[in-house]
Amino acid sequence: MKGVVLAGGKATRLRPLTKVTNKHLLPIYDRPLIYYPLQAMSRAGIRDVLVITNPEHAGHFIQLLGSGSEFGLKIAYELQEEAGGLAQAVGLAESFVGHDKVLVLLGDNIFTHDLRPAVERFAAEQRGSVIFGVTMEHPEHYGVIEMDGERVIGIEEKPTNPRSNLIQTGIYMYDEEVWSHLQGLTPSARGELEITDLNNIYVQQGTMRCEQLDGYWIDAGTSHEELLAANIAVAELRRREQI
Ligand code: DAU
Repeated sequence: MKGVVLAGGKATRLRPLTKVTNKHLLPIYDRPLIYYPLQAMSRAGIRDVLVITNPEHAGHFIQLLGSGSEFGLKIAYELQEEAGGLAQAVGLAESFVGHDKVLVLLGDNIFTHDLRPAVERFAAEQRGSVIFGVTMEHPEHYGVIEMDGERVIGIEEKPTNPRSNLIQTGIYMYDEEVWSHLQGLTPSARGELEITDLNNIYVQQGTMRCEQLDGYWIDAGTSHEELLAANIAVAELRRREQI
């Protein structure tokens, strides 16, 4: 299975910190944010990883991460010329992933869960997609998952009236059908190709599964408060050698 880490976007919610740099290069305790999803890729047993970022900062990522050997990874780079949404960024990975399956991580997600068992299970399965859910007090800031027993019946992006407290984290596994599903997407009201629309295609096909994400998880990129919270939590997790 191949890995893709999304590290583009404009990060307007974190201005002025992101006026001249990329959100994923900001410090989280003693290392840049992008290190955490890359460590998670390595822990998951994935070796070939594509980092997708914007042209203005691509050079910084290459300088920082190089070949990826520090992480036990082989890193390749791809440019997303405009921030056209998460699903558009995923589409740029098609030739890199080829006929393999893919684990996509959002570059601003930090978590302690070991993905290796799920990756191994998915690699052995035939088709479909897997998302990873956590329960949040304020689900309206995320993609909200609606379940019927074990079955995912819908995902709504940042709804005003969330149907549950279960949200999709920035961890997604897709089979080879992802490329044809991406062809059918149209831009949302905010002009982006949405990962939630992509995921809902799998939901409609009945091939989407949701796994519970254990341990600590945060999307450090949503606000200055979350960025600060991530710094404080990671300092403690690193002291306990849990991340
Ligand atoms: O973290 C989980 C949430 O991530 C999910 O619950 C939501 O369903 C999902 O849409 C996403 O929401 P965010 O509002 O956090 O997305 P954000 O715009 O922060 O982008 C997520 C990552 O993708 C971030 O690391 C930047 C990168 N990105 C974003 C855009 C818009 C790109 O690489 N290219 C892009 O065009």
